[in-house]
Amino acid sequence: MSRVQRANENDIAGIVALNNKYAPQGLTLKRTEEFGYAHLADFRVIRDADGAIVGCAALDEYSPSVAEVVSLAVSQDEQGLGHGKALIKSLEQLARKRGYAELFSVSFSDELFLDAGFEHTPLTTYPEKIARYGKIASELKVGEKHCFMKRLA
Ligand SMILES: CC(C)(COP(=O)(O)OP(=O)(O)OC[C@H]1O[C@@H](n2cnc3c(N)ncnc32)[C@H](O)[C@@H]1OP(=O)(O)O)[C@@H](O)C(=O)NCCC(=O)NCCS
Repeated sequence: MSRVQRANENDIAGIVALNNKYAPQGLTLKRTEEFGYAHLADFRVIRDADGAIVGCAALDEYSPSVAEVVSLAVSQDEQGLGHGKALIKSLEQLARKRGYAELFSVSFSDELFLDAGFEHTPLTTYPEKIARYGKIASELKVGEKHCFMKRLA
C-alpha cells in the first residue's frame, strides 16, 4: 500500500531530484528548490523506509476553480506498485478540500489518468497552460502529450 504524506522542508531536495530526473525526457518540468519551498503545502510525497522520497506530486492553482497535477514522479525501482495512482488520488482529495471545481494534467501517461477517472480534453481548454509552455523551450514536445481533466464539483 502506498502511504502518501504531506511534504516538509526536509523533503525538498529529494522532491526536486526525483522530479528533475525525468525532465530531460520532457516527462516533467524542471523544478528548482524555490519552487519546492513555494509549493510545500501543495506537495504530497511517498517515502521509503529510510525516509527517502520515492514519489511526489503537487497541485498547481490556475484559478480559484482550477488546479493542475504537476511534478508527478515515482522513482524507477518503485514504479508499477500503485504509487502514482495513490498520489493522484491524494491530490484529488486535497483539491476537493480546497474547493476546486476542476483538476487537470498534461501527461504521456494516458492509462494512469483514465484509470483515475479523468477524461481527455483539448489542451486549448487551458489557454494559460499553453501560454506557460510557450515560455519554456524544453516543453516544445507538449504537442505529443495529452490533456486530462476531472470535474470535482
Ligand atoms: C507516471 C508515473 C508517475 C506512474 O507511477 P507508478 O507508481 O508507476 O504508477 P502506478 O503503479 O500507480 O500505476 C498506475 C497505472 O498506470 C499505468 N502504468 C504505470 N506504470 C506504467 C508503465 N511503466 N507502463 C505502462 N503503464 C504504466 C498502469 O495502467 C497502472 O495501472 P494498473 O495498476 O492497473 O496496472 C511513473 O511511471 C513516473 O514517474 N514516470 C516518469 C515521470 C512521468 O512520466 N511523470 C508524469 C508526468 S504527468
